[in-house]
Amino acid sequence: MGTSNEINKQDFCLWLGHLKLSRIIIVLSTILFLVPLITHYYLSNVENNSIHITHSAHSHTDLPEDLNYLNDLDLKVRVEELYRIKGSVSSELRDMESKRQKLQQELQAYTKNIEQLKFELSHQQTELNRLKISVEQAQVAQKEALEQNTPDLALPKRLTANQLPAIFPMLPRNLARNCRMFSCFDHSRCSLTSGFPVYLYDPDQYTVMHSNWDVDGFLKTTLKQTLGYNPHLTNDPKEACIYLVLVGEALKDTDDISEAFGNSNLPPLDSRALKRLPYWGGDGRNHVLLNLARRDLSAASGNIFTNVDTGRAILVQSTFTHSSFRSEFDLIVSPVLGPPGGDVWQECAPMLPARRKYLLSFQGEIKSNSKYGPTNLYGLDDSDLANTESYFELDRFIVEHLKEMGKSSTADKFYFEFECIPANDDNINTGFQDWALCGTDSSRKFILRDSTFVLIFAPATAEYVSTTLLQARIYEALRSGAIPVILGGDQIRLAYDEVIQWKRICIFLPRVRITELHFLLRALPDSDILLMRRQGRLMWEKYLASVQSTLDTIVAVLRDRLNIPPLPVENVPAVSVFNETFQPTQVIVNVDGEQDESLGPLEPPYNSPAYRRNYSLLITQGHEVWNDWGDPFHLYPTLPTDPLLPSDAKFLGSGRGFRPIGQGQGGAGKEFSEALGGNNPREQFTVLLLTYEREQVLLDSIARLRGLPYLNSVVVVWNSPKPPSPELRWPDIGAPLHIVKAARNSLNNRFLPLDNLKTEAVLSVDDDAHLRHDEILFGFRVWREHRDRIVGFPGRYHAWDLNTANSWLYNSNYSCELSMVLTGAAFIHRHYFHLYWKWLPQAIRDKVDEYMNCEDIAMNFLVSHITRQPPVKVTSRWTFRCPGCPQSLSEDDTHFQERHKCINFFTQVFGYTPLLNTQYRADSILFKTRIPHDKQKCFKFI
Ligand SMILES: *[C@@H]1O[C@H](CO)[C@@H](O)[C@H](O)[C@H]1NC(C)=O
Ligand SMILES: *[C@@H]1O[C@H](CO)[C@@H](O)[C@H](O)[C@H]1NC(C)=O
Ligand SMILES: *[C@@H]1O[C@H](CO)[C@@H](O)[C@H](O)[C@H]1NC(C)=O
Repeated sequence: MGTSNEINKQDFCLWLGHLKLSRIIIVLSTILFLVPLITHYYLSNVENNSIHITHSAHSHTDLPEDLNYLNDLDLKVRVEELYRIKGSVSSELRDMESKRQKLQQELQAYTKNIEQLKFELSHQQTELNRLKISVEQAQVAQKEALEQNTPDLALPKRLTANQLPAIFPMLPRNLARNCRMFSCFDHSRCSLTSGFPVYLYDPDQYTVMHSNWDVDGFLKTTLKQTLGYNPHLTNDPKEACIYLVLVGEALKDTDDISEAFGNSNLPPLDSRALKRLPYWGGDGRNHVLLNLARRDLSAASGNIFTNVDTGRAILVQSTFTHSSFRSEFDLIVSPVLGPPGGDVWQECAPMLPARRKYLLSFQGEIKSNSKYGPTNLYGLDDSDLANTESYFELDRFIVEHLKEMGKSSTADKFYFEFECIPANDDNINTGFQDWALCGTDSSRKFILRDSTFVLIFAPATAEYVSTTLLQARIYEALRSGAIPVILGGDQIRLAYDEVIQWKRICIFLPRVRITELHFLLRALPDSDILLMRRQGRLMWEKYLASVQSTLDTIVAVLRDRLNIPPLPVENVPAVSVFNETFQPTQVIVNVDGEQDESLGPLEPPYNSPAYRRNYSLLITQGHEVWNDWGDPFHLYPTLPTDPLLPSDAKFLGSGRGFRPIGQGQGGAGKEFSEALGGNNPREQFTVLLLTYEREQVLLDSIARLRGLPYLNSVVVVWNSPKPPSPELRWPDIGAPLHIVKAARNSLNNRFLPLDNLKTEAVLSVDDDAHLRHDEILFGFRVWREHRDRIVGFPGRYHAWDLNTANSWLYNSNYSCELSMVLTGAAFIHRHYFHLYWKWLPQAIRDKVDEYMNCEDIAMNFLVSHITRQPPVKVTSRWTFRCPGCPQSLSEDDTHFQERHKCINFFTQVFGYTPLLNTQYRADSILFKTRIPHDKQKCFKFI
């Protein structure tokens, strides 16, 4: 505004000057024209009078005497003379007037010229400064390039195995029992750069089960389907690093157990069939045997590998005994109780309130099945059974204690069911004494949704490190947001515990802590309850919820063990709206309105370095990647959370790319405008515009970006199905301009992870948003310090609806607190664009399409969900609509109504409202600070 005001002021002065001049001219010309006229009038009067006088001279005696002395001739001569004088005076006056006008015009022209030159001078001065800075920066970059004696490491050739596994002799059983990765796994098939190729034996083609067993058909189909989406899958067994074999869930062909066991007493898995697998290589190296429980949650189905020679193969299932489980080699997984893939949020309960109806619940019953028969098949010896007895005794004591607790006089409510009503024998085939589930899946869900904590017993047999039932109970609990309290938690291990931090999700207790349980649960504050519940849901959604997430997780954990990076995330290819032959016309458009302030060097496009941490991210931040903000399934070019160097590192050997202010001495505005400074190396940003059939508005917006420092390129997402008219003259702004065709008109396209977004920082702007250069650059500099947050200009908030008292309202009123920054003018890390498409449930993008609205709210939800931080608002701007533009959509009332609905719907999908409030706004450091005259502020106006 400052600029246009100033320009306006200048204009106004000129105009004022002009006005005054013209007034003077009018006055002057009036005078100049009137003088001859008046003279003429008087002269004629004199003439008339004199005639009159002569005539009346005879009759009047009181006439002035001198007139009487004038004779007619004299009078005539004098009159004529006067006429002559009048004529020459007026022609002289005319001459003078025209000369005066000419001079006036010249003067005006000169004044204008001077003004222009003055303006030009200051402009050139700024331009010169800017060029100087640009040259300096270019020199620094060049020096850096020269000093860099080691070129960027070239990627080694992708090494994959190129032959089938050789046939090795079988591994003796006792060695196989002690398998570890170093002793049983063939690392030579899995080079660091191999990309971890995974081969799947088609479960329909290769059967490894005894004749009266089969693998669950649903699993067979789903496995093939979901692994088909996994980028590691290869069809070439020669290059594969690991080979997947589906061995369960095993189901009997006949329902008659006695027949199955009685006749042949065959376990489901046929070890000879395993050895006949074409790539088994004699000992099953790098083979992974998947036994995924789905329907039968009893331990009996769980331990399918007992008494089967599996050689060096890695076993994956939910049930293991301590003696059979080879830590860091075999893998405990959760049963696949969920859908094949897709959205799972509908399954979940809302996270709030923190404290639910029941403080603690339990539904289960100790079942004792015949100790003989199937039991022996699964390898429990007598000492195991003795152990079972003692645990059983302890569990009986625990049950008594819990029953007492349930009757206690505190306000806390408990829901305990120690005897299943109605009696439920369907899912019980434990083969030993263990806790069985009561109720049906949905009836338990009902109770779990009402429970703050849920009690889960470790297997009654201490021999078990994990059972399917235990894992299933954890699955159920997390799905409904009941925090698992595992009694005997010191005895068991949970799924993927080499990567998932279960301590953040469950409470593990030795059985004897039962008497302290109530006290402990009461001692947890709401914030921690919600933290655990949220973490549980996060892990459940990511790793356990569907068949797809389970398979992806299994593959990722094995890959992680070998320190092989994930495959790079896929970008959306940017397809130009123009065909190859068409060259859009580009013209230089001069745009008034940018103030003369040198804001930084103009440099050629410099892309953010990418994929620098392929081999170190999972080493240094593996825990966070798996348990916090990360995505262990994909490799990203950069992350908003990449670590910072210590500030002295850039002066002591690691300075490459850094542009410290005043070369490290710091400084005020002048030095500040010359270098990017900050804690990160130099970088640029991309401007991303979403547009729909507003060509002129768009062109004006683009034109305004001319000369913007640190601008890498401009990407326009062309949402209209109609291509731009070929006559359009695109502004040449000195940075690359890409016009990208959108597959369809959708506001979700605002966050497409396009492959031509080459910088981490993306400035997302509406095509009609009018941001000044200094505002943009200030926003960019602030974003560089809050790379994981949305940093932008228009603030909004979600307000509690006091009328309904259970929902949110979207609010755009001026306010001292905000919780969202609109993405119509905000910096966002490119990483979030991937997450928007990969992480966000489809239901949210569908809602955005349904309303043609709310994509910015969705992005705010996503980022706050991941960071648990509010966005950052910069500068005093609250709103952006240009006053002259036609009323934009968002002022519309239905638009507002939809936004209320969006917030409430998104809250439902996330299970809570991730938005957080902030009362803070960023202004530049010396803003409104008195500084000495020889110093400059960081920015003139902000
Ligand atoms: C390319 O696009 C231009 C303008 O849209 C059009 O005139 C021309 O025919 C197109 N050429 C081809 C080969 O499609
Ligand atoms: C890291 O991975 C990416 C994507 O596969 C690749 O382009 C890049 O060259 C890799 N960098 C290194 C240093 O290996
Ligand atoms: C904004 O403020 C005005 C006047 O203060 C009020 O009438 C209006 O309801 C407010 N809008 C919202 C969405 O709260």
